[in-house]
Amino acid sequence: MRVAGSANLLVCADAENVAIEAADRFAFLAIKSVAENGVFYAAVPGGSSPKKTLSKLAVGVYKDLIPWSRVHIFFTDERAVPPGHEDSNYRLVNELLVSNVPIPAENVHRFMAELGPAEAAERYEAELVDIMGDKPVFDLVMLGMGDDTHTASLFPNSPALLEDKKLAAANYVEKLSCYRLTLTLPAINNAKEILILAIGEAKAAAVHTVLCGEQDIQNHPVQAVKPFNGRLLWLLDREAASML
Ligand code: 6PG
Repeated sequence: MRVAGSANLLVCADAENVAIEAADRFAFLAIKSVAENGVFYAAVPGGSSPKKTLSKLAVGVYKDLIPWSRVHIFFTDERAVPPGHEDSNYRLVNELLVSNVPIPAENVHRFMAELGPAEAAERYEAELVDIMGDKPVFDLVMLGMGDDTHTASLFPNSPALLEDKKLAAANYVEKLSCYRLTLTLPAINNAKEILILAIGEAKAAAVHTVLCGEQDIQNHPVQAVKPFNGRLLWLLDREAASML
C-alpha cells in the first residue's frame, strides 16, 4: 500500500511478523552497507515496539550473518536516567541485543544521560560527528510511534521539533514534566532508510491520523519523518492498521 509522500507501508499479520520484517531489513542493510562501505550505522529506539526485533537480531542467522564488528549502534532517544535505570533505552537495548552479540563496546554510542540533559545531548552530538561527520547519514533509523504520534523523543509541541541545525537535543516534555534526549529531524531525515514500527490496536487511531489526516507536525511529530533522500517504510501489524 502506498501512502502519503515517499512512504511505503507493509501490513504484517501480527507483531511477530513485524519483528521478522524489521530484523530482515536490519540484517540486509547491515550486510549490504558493510560490503559497500565497510560499516553500518544504525539508530534504534526504546519502548516496546522494537523489543521483538532486537531479541531476534541477537540469535540464529541474524546473530551469525550480521557483521557485528563493523556495526555501530546509536540510539534515537533516551530517557534522562542513568544507563542502569529500568527506564533506560540503553539498558533495554543492551539486555536484548548488545550484550548477546559480538559488537565492540566502542561501537555502541549512548546518550550519557547521567551527565544531565544539556551535557548529554552535546556529548552525543559530538560523538555522532566524530564517528560520522557533521552531516551524519544513518544507514538505518528504526523508530516507534507513541499513541500521541510522538517519535523518538520528539513529542507534540515540544521545542526539539523545531530544531533544524543540531543533530541531538535535550527536549523538555511538558506532558511528562521531564527532559528527554533525542535525535533531531535533521539527523533522522538524513538517513538512507527509516523504519517506523507501529503495533497493536492502541496505535490504530494514531496511525490513521498520521497517514490519512491533515499534515500537522506540531501536534503529530511523526509526520515530520520524511527522509531527504532515503526510504521510509512503515511496518504495521493488522491491529495498528485496522483503521486505514
Ligand atoms: C522511548 C522510545 C519512544 C517510542 C515510543 C513508542 O524512549 O520510549 O524511543 O520513542 O518509540 O514512545 O513507544 P512504544 O514502542 O512502547 O509504543
